[in-house]
Amino acid sequence: MKTSAMIAAVAALLCGAATAAKPVDPLAPTARWSAYTAGRGQLPPMGWNSWNVFASDIDEAKIMGSAQRIVSSGLAQKGYRYVNLDDGWALKRRQPDGRLIVRTDRFPSARSGANDSNFKPFTDRLHAMGLKAGIYSDLGRNTCAEAFGTVDADLPQGNVLEREVGLYGHIDQDIALYFGEWGFDYIKVDGCGIRDYAPTSPRVTSGKFRAVGPFIDSGQVSRSDIPAVKAMFQQINNALVRDNPDGDYLLSLCVWGAADVRNWGKDYGSVSRTSDDISPAWGRMLVNYDSAVTRALYAHPGSWNDPDMLHIGQSDFDAGHLKEARTHFALWAMINAPLLIGTDLRKTPQSLLDIFGNSDIIALNQDSAGNQATIAYDTSDVQILVKTLASGEKAVAIFNRGSGGYDVDLTAAHLKYRDDAPVTLTDLWSKQRKSFTGQIKLHVDPRETLIFRTRGTRTLADGLYLSEQPGRVNPAVDGVIHPQADPTIFRTAAGWTGTKGAGDRPIYAGWGGARADSAPYGQVLQIAGKPFPSGIGILANSRLEVRNDRAARLTTMVGVDDSASDKGHAVTFAIYGDGRLLAKSAPLKWGMAAQPLSANVGGVKLVELVARSAGADNAQLPVSWGDAALLLR
Ligand code: GLA
Repeated sequence: MKTSAMIAAVAALLCGAATAAKPVDPLAPTARWSAYTAGRGQLPPMGWNSWNVFASDIDEAKIMGSAQRIVSSGLAQKGYRYVNLDDGWALKRRQPDGRLIVRTDRFPSARSGANDSNFKPFTDRLHAMGLKAGIYSDLGRNTCAEAFGTVDADLPQGNVLEREVGLYGHIDQDIALYFGEWGFDYIKVDGCGIRDYAPTSPRVTSGKFRAVGPFIDSGQVSRSDIPAVKAMFQQINNALVRDNPDGDYLLSLCVWGAADVRNWGKDYGSVSRTSDDISPAWGRMLVNYDSAVTRALYAHPGSWNDPDMLHIGQSDFDAGHLKEARTHFALWAMINAPLLIGTDLRKTPQSLLDIFGNSDIIALNQDSAGNQATIAYDTSDVQILVKTLASGEKAVAIFNRGSGGYDVDLTAAHLKYRDDAPVTLTDLWSKQRKSFTGQIKLHVDPRETLIFRTRGTRTLADGLYLSEQPGRVNPAVDGVIHPQADPTIFRTAAGWTGTKGAGDRPIYAGWGGARADSAPYGQVLQIAGKPFPSGIGILANSRLEVRNDRAARLTTMVGVDDSASDKGHAVTFAIYGDGRLLAKSAPLKWGMAAQPLSANVGGVKLVELVARSAGADNAQLPVSWGDAALLLR
């Protein structure tokens, strides 16, 4: 090599070294709460959506009829505010300017001259009724109904380009139209357009649709392009911020638990679907519930798990099945799911309105602390869920999933109450009160859910375990590197394909995610033989963010969880306060006793708990933050 060329090569190398970005350490403290808080999702949204009852056969009379009943029945007063259009409102994307046109034959108030439309009178009407308006779109060029709908008259019309009513390539234009011009307050963004229009799919090869992606494969998380899906939601968020200077918007992610969204949805929208569509079948309700119930740490004010809309009013949850309907409602309330009614309210009997209108149960869902219920007792047939409320009281639900009655022992310990002091229970359906000390036997019929508001004397007198306040704990990095399907989600023949195909196989990634009062794979939390009824279970190489306002101290017992199969690698546990290192453990391996760790966090806004292990396979190295608690003194 000539000297000049050598000099150039060395200079290029040096230059490259100087400009190469330092790899970002995801475990480095940031002093920043990273879960989504934009928009108006501080509480789980409540309202009504057209899909479950009407599919894409919607019109103005149907929507307004339900909206009027929401008001006249008093449900609006109780918090049901959003009236959301789902798939089926769009006629076409006008060419060549790409403006979306409403199906004005179905929505006459949106008529606005030839080849134009305007939804503003429609949203104005809802607003004048004290309600809010929601609209629907898709990440791709086409929607789910265009992929699966069977009634042509309900689908977008025109040529290939005109039928492209989804956001793909039009994010800025459409968001500006929906929010800036038409005055909507909520958008649900579906994902079929980036899943079901592969170049080889019959839809595309028929020439009726253009190909996109696919970026999502619902059955195989490994075949989904997760960064691409996140980037689309980021772009939508940027547009929402731009077109809603007052911040009055709500983004609902609808990629059905695919693309590992149960892990990251909390960073991109106010609500995020954790599973495929609910149907009015008991088994399908269980799937949807199971897809969210273990994910309490992934839900916070501003970023809720969405197991899909309520299906109360139809089939297994109709007025002939009030017990099942009450269970569905109680479970959704306990896990802070959106309470979106999915039935034709014009025809809904009072018995079902009374379920939607149970103010005591609504109050659990809308509690300002935003703690999704956690599982205190878990079996295949009976579960006990406990939810810590802002008042310090707790709600408890005893859920019988099975087909036989059970006499359930509810103990003070399930509630983290002392067993030598009285506990009072108020039944939120009958309003009857009971009290007990230590434990009480309660009969639960098949498919019944008992639901109570409780008072007792806390075992931890001077603070709260982190697992009692999942709304304040965010697994910013949960250590899951290779997303795996969660095998614990109930599998049912009552799915969308009926009993065709290979059955309902595990598909919802999230296995090994962070858990409250549980090891990541479901075992009890335990370090060197010592169980911890309270604590956070998470994989190694993880970072938890914990919001603090009043606590003076964080205390915990740390170690490698007994469920780890890696007995060789050591883990170091560190506590940070607003980015500063406050405490650090010795390197701890499997089988070593739990080490106490504590830090003064007075005045600290954000605590971060980091568990590091160089070179380990995180999936084999669950760790425990045993008894982790924020204490007032
Ligand atoms: C998907 C969604 C449903 C509904 C339909 C509309 O299936 O998951 O909630 O929005 O699309 O086509």
